[in-house]
Amino acid sequence: MGRSTRAREVAISSDKASSWVYCEEFVPEDDVLLRARERAGQLGCTPVTAGTGAALSVLAATAGARAVVEVGTGAGVSSLYLLRGMPEDGVLTTIDLEVEHQRAAKDAFTEAGLRPARTRTISGRALDVLPRLTDGVYDLVFVDADKESAAAYVEQAVRLLRPGGVLAVSGALWHDRVADPARRDETTTAVRELGRTVRADERLLPALLPTGDGLLVAVKR
Ligand SMILES: C[S@@+](CC[C@H](N)C(=O)[O-])C[C@H]1O[C@@H](n2cnc3c(N)ncnc32)[C@H](O)[C@@H]1O
Repeated sequence: MGRSTRAREVAISSDKASSWVYCEEFVPEDDVLLRARERAGQLGCTPVTAGTGAALSVLAATAGARAVVEVGTGAGVSSLYLLRGMPEDGVLTTIDLEVEHQRAAKDAFTEAGLRPARTRTISGRALDVLPRLTDGVYDLVFVDADKESAAAYVEQAVRLLRPGGVLAVSGALWHDRVADPARRDETTTAVRELGRTVRADERLLPALLPTGDGLLVAVKR
């Protein structure tokens, strides 16, 4: 049996929707995360799901990530998850063009009792900021901003990561449109193309996780 046939058989022989919800709720969120999520809602910026957040914590912990870059701070939900997986002396550099979003994220960091030295918030367009960061010294780069520039962020991420460092990109299934070839709108096409590019990149070892809205992960060889 071919691999794709086998994957389809598994998909139709079990209730994937309820399994997905079960996975998303598997690690419950505490009050700090719930309040950060509430601020995100008030600002109209969509945070990562609980399942994606838990996966980010695990990735950060597995990589022993002391130096992490996040593209798209939002109200700080994913930042909190990344920081929870990092060691006590780890520093998160997080970039967003919306000062108001970063203000909300800073409230979340304070509420979480994080020392100010644990976070470096940079406001600006990611494509202006990323080229100023040092080559090959970061353990993990998480991309969660505008999809149209995601390919450029990934190219920067590969430059920033040390060998063995981890790349993670949210929204890789883009509202379940990416897997449907009939969906050809601009954003869906860009996200689908990004998946192909990462998969074909010999510098990277990729996997596409169905958590949240799809989490594309890769290790830099
Ligand atoms: C989906 S939200 C991030 C959510 C956040 N990662 C979380 O889980 O809490 C996307 C963020 O990317 C920021 N953004 C969009 N385009 C950007 C750009 N060109 N440069 C930097 N930040 C950008 C938005 O202001 C927004 O805060």
